[in-house]
Amino acid sequence: MKINKAIFPVAGLGTRFLPATKAQPKEMLPVVDKPLIQYAVEEAYAAGIRQMIFVNGRNKRAIPDHFDTAYELEAELEAAGKKELLALVHSIKPDDMECIYIRQPKALGLGHAVLCAQCVVVNEPFAVLLADDLMVGTPPILKQMVERFADWQASIIAVQEVPDDQTRRYGMVAGTPVNDRMMDMTHIVEKPAPEDAPSRLGVAGRYILTPGIFKEIAAQPRGVGGEIQLTDGIAALMRREKVFAFRYEGRRYDCGSKEGFLEANVELALMHPQLGPGFRSYLKTLEL
Ligand code: G1P
Repeated sequence: MKINKAIFPVAGLGTRFLPATKAQPKEMLPVVDKPLIQYAVEEAYAAGIRQMIFVNGRNKRAIPDHFDTAYELEAELEAAGKKELLALVHSIKPDDMECIYIRQPKALGLGHAVLCAQCVVVNEPFAVLLADDLMVGTPPILKQMVERFADWQASIIAVQEVPDDQTRRYGMVAGTPVNDRMMDMTHIVEKPAPEDAPSRLGVAGRYILTPGIFKEIAAQPRGVGGEIQLTDGIAALMRREKVFAFRYEGRRYDCGSKEGFLEANVELALMHPQLGPGFRSYLKTLEL
């Protein structure tokens, strides 16, 4: 089985980023020159995925607009002969990429958002990408996971080490190593206190899941924060199927937090082929 579909849960309110997210989706905040959601969609595309499923909410029109034709803008760029900009606008949605939008009527949690996409995914394995986790790696993190999936044909959850005082921000996992980066997962708990965390490995916002997850999520009561948690669905799935934790190679920026967002902007600006050198010189002039 191959991964053809990716779910992007984008209905959250983005309260950690107020006031910037009062009237615009947090997924549209730009890091350097691209909105967060575009980084996640490009990562899925680079992993060979062509069907992008957005689980959207109220006041989030900017996301479907971003991946739609911008008729007036494109006509103006065409008329002005601005070919490079026109190509840039077109590249946001390559012709072989399909965008599907589903409305999540209430913000009932990440598990619920994934369940909202069941009618489109039905019976195939799929990816989930949380756009506020901006992931940078070579190859891109989801591609690393899709490559592992080709061998293991089982759910794979991206994990990273997190400091003791941050276990309450993450799904925390433990497992038995099967090779240098993969673990046969034995535990997963949503946002535990440090003393209750099964290890120091926290879930980053990239998942490959088998369709068996839908039934498990649907059977979950509300969990941490009164929400239907994806983590609880995964814990139930683990009792029926193998689930692997994968220590990816790369860097995660928590762009749901202001600090992580600032770090992403500085580091990605430094990596940017056109802006990088000038920005580096500018930073050197700052008396820090
Ligand atoms: C979600 C998941 C959590 C995971 C995190 C990664 O939490 O519920 O298990 O570790 O994403 O970013 P959220 O950050 O949406 O509260």
